[in-house]
Amino acid sequence: MKKEPSGNIFSDRISDVPRSFIRDILKLTADKSIISFAGGMPNRDLFPVKELGAAASKLFARSGKDILQYSTSEGYWELREWIAHRYKSVKGIGITPENVLITSGSQQGLDLLGKTFLDEGDGVIIEEPGYLGAIQAFSVYKSLFHPARVDMDGIDLERLKQALSDYPVKLYYAVPDFQNPSGISYCEENRRQAATLLEGRDTMLVEDDPYGELRFRGEAKSSFYKLIPGNTVLLGSFSKIVAPSFRIGWLVAAGEVMEKLVIAKQASDLHTNYIGQRIIYQYLKDNGIDSHIEKIRAAYGRQRDAMIAAMEAHFPAEVRYTRPEGGMFLWVTLPEGLPAMDVFKQSIGQKVAFVPGDPFYVNKKDVNTMRLNYSCVDEDTVHTGIKRLGGVLKKMISALQ
Ligand SMILES: Cc1ncc(COP(=O)(O)O)c(C=O)c1O
Repeated sequence: MKKEPSGNIFSDRISDVPRSFIRDILKLTADKSIISFAGGMPNRDLFPVKELGAAASKLFARSGKDILQYSTSEGYWELREWIAHRYKSVKGIGITPENVLITSGSQQGLDLLGKTFLDEGDGVIIEEPGYLGAIQAFSVYKSLFHPARVDMDGIDLERLKQALSDYPVKLYYAVPDFQNPSGISYCEENRRQAATLLEGRDTMLVEDDPYGELRFRGEAKSSFYKLIPGNTVLLGSFSKIVAPSFRIGWLVAAGEVMEKLVIAKQASDLHTNYIGQRIIYQYLKDNGIDSHIEKIRAAYGRQRDAMIAAMEAHFPAEVRYTRPEGGMFLWVTLPEGLPAMDVFKQSIGQKVAFVPGDPFYVNKKDVNTMRLNYSCVDEDTVHTGIKRLGGVLKKMISALQ
């Protein structure tokens, strides 16, 4: 029989990192008869399959030898130029291609930030609830988390101020637009006040923005990178606006911060998948992106509306939920004393899945919150699933009383 290594061969670094609970849940939802609001994936029916195929064929025919070679750690210049130009035209952020580092998804951006900034015990302010992938990425570097609540207006400014003055904090990790998991966006005033608190400090704000382009309602807000560029590293990704399998994202930084991040990138993987960068760039050059993003926004907007309408019709009045203006998720708060994990166990029996809130907190368990994803489920299925979930909630809430 093959002998496994003993437990103490592993580093403390990896032993203490929580396993991705969502990946475990997704295994459960592989059963096709389950209506899943659990995933965090973009809608596969919206992938530009034909256009990407055409871009790839063209490249192999014309530049096969080039696209198969090693490339630079910073990324394909033309793609970095395209990204810099888009920030200028869409968000009014004045950067150059030198400020853009292509990463293997924005998830790698988080890892590079951990490598570059965090020693064991260093402080990280994390949103509560917060993105599980960031909790996992920074946990590898044995950081000390200081959670700060997000509510309808954004980050809890009092808590932010207190954490910044009470602890040495190296990073503040934020998803200011259509946050994963809650769908909440920071309002303009909240951003400005948070920016004022951070400006000039030895703390970097990590502005993770994979969903900002997916706004189907309301007005765009100021990017932190525009407000306080010296204190911000901005992360972006093609995962939600083109396709995630390329694993192509980027980070925006300047000066010495960028120099150090490039060193971390070299040490990690030399460079991001070069064929993927070339295919995405060819696709963007031949097709543009605006009409494709418009299609995604319209579809997610309809699916979000269907979910809210079904919740209004079928959820008990005690249950509260966010009303996102973009992105892929909304956040449900159950009455006190009803753990979402218990609801999950019952709702799986009714063939409906979601993600209980627990993994989005760094120090809370048995929470009464849950994340629902609406990007992958058509409007009729949304209605059926929410009606079933509403039935489960009605029963469990009346049993509480
Ligand atoms: C807030 C947030 N950041 C980062 C990521 C990782 O995205 P990528 O596919 O670009 O690595 C996700 C993925 O769901 C996310 O929700």
